[in-house]
Amino acid sequence: MKVGVLGAGTMGAGIAQVAAQAGHQVVLVDLNQNVIDKAKADLEKVLNRLIEKGKLTSEASQDIQNRFTYSTATADFADCGIIIEAIVEKLTVKHAVFQELESIVSEDCILASNTSSLPIASIGSVLKNPSRIIGIHFFNPAPLMPLVEIIPAVQTTTEVVDKAKNLIDSWKKITVLCKDTPGFIVNRVARPFYGEALRIYEEGIADFATIDWAMTELAGFRMGPYTLMDYIGNDINYTVTESVFTAFYFDPRYKPSFTQKRHFEAGYLGRKSGRGYYNYTEDAVMPEPVKDLVVGQQIVDRILVMLMNEAIDALFLNVASKTDIDLAMVNGVNYPKGLLAWAEEKSLTWVLEKLQTLFEEYGEDRYRPSPLLKRLVQQGKSTF
Ligand code: NAI
Repeated sequence: MKVGVLGAGTMGAGIAQVAAQAGHQVVLVDLNQNVIDKAKADLEKVLNRLIEKGKLTSEASQDIQNRFTYSTATADFADCGIIIEAIVEKLTVKHAVFQELESIVSEDCILASNTSSLPIASIGSVLKNPSRIIGIHFFNPAPLMPLVEIIPAVQTTTEVVDKAKNLIDSWKKITVLCKDTPGFIVNRVARPFYGEALRIYEEGIADFATIDWAMTELAGFRMGPYTLMDYIGNDINYTVTESVFTAFYFDPRYKPSFTQKRHFEAGYLGRKSGRGYYNYTEDAVMPEPVKDLVVGQQIVDRILVMLMNEAIDALFLNVASKTDIDLAMVNGVNYPKGLLAWAEEKSLTWVLEKLQTLFEEYGEDRYRPSPLLKRLVQQGKSTF
């Protein structure tokens, strides 16, 4: 099957590389010739690095590059079996583009979007045949991150879902199926990792470095929340939080933080701007955490139960299966364990008690335990 990728930016170029490495002929299209030239040069660099590391032969590298057709014209998608769109995150632009794509491709061509935040149902609504729309959400960098969320819209047929899932599985990715709901799995369930860490700082319980120390050293996360937000970029992370909050009709659980907004507004975007929560300029000294084990454990427990509650609520609302929710967090954001399995390990009663204590102390809806958690504990169950 010939694979079309629209948009040769960060995500499109990565997705095209994955498809070509899996043996497909790939048509990579972007409006901007400079972006295409860069994608082509970057691919060559990446493949050369793989050759140097002994992970790829130069013949294989040449084969991969030969499978590419680069173009600025969507007409070149005509004989593709699937198009994955990875252009700017604007619904009106995506609508125009999908209508144009439908007029070019064959009737059974799958039309997929890599959107992070737009509803798939809404993207597909402009199609004459919306049953072929699907979300195929890769993580950055696409060639390295194993997870791909597959998101059928209400219009999508099961045949399209199966075809898309089988295809991405054949690219050696870990696919998870999820409902067309805000943030899908990862960007929804991960919110408290940032939100609760920001809240803990705002209450003056600990500084950035101490919160990061607790989450890495005591909880085993690869990066602390502040290091990670600086890595992602406070502009991007804040925008995702705000969009999830708005899409959930202002559910207080997803409320954005003023601390992050002010950092964003000040241009403290993180690594890319030289300063975020930390200072990345050459002579800057990284702050030392206060390694108080009692405070550290309080921080870990509070963020962890909020994450677990989010995962449990996603299960409660059938956003995805238990297996897929856990696979998503381990493979999409490198969590040390799946949150549902972790909650079972800590015990559901422990999770509920911690949440109830927070809920009683603050009286905020943000801390309400998921009905599923309450139900299971009431029934004396220890697993989901
Ligand atoms: P980007 O800005 O790096 O690339 C977008 C590309 O699309 C640009 O090269 C632009 O020239 C091109 N483009 C814009 N309008 C076009 C059109 N009408 N026709 C053809 N090309 C057009 O953006 P990025 O980061 O790659 O994001 C693309 C999509 O992937 C967005 O929907 C985003 O939400 C999603 N996404 C982004 C992730 C990330 O970490 N950057 C992760 C997962 C999904």
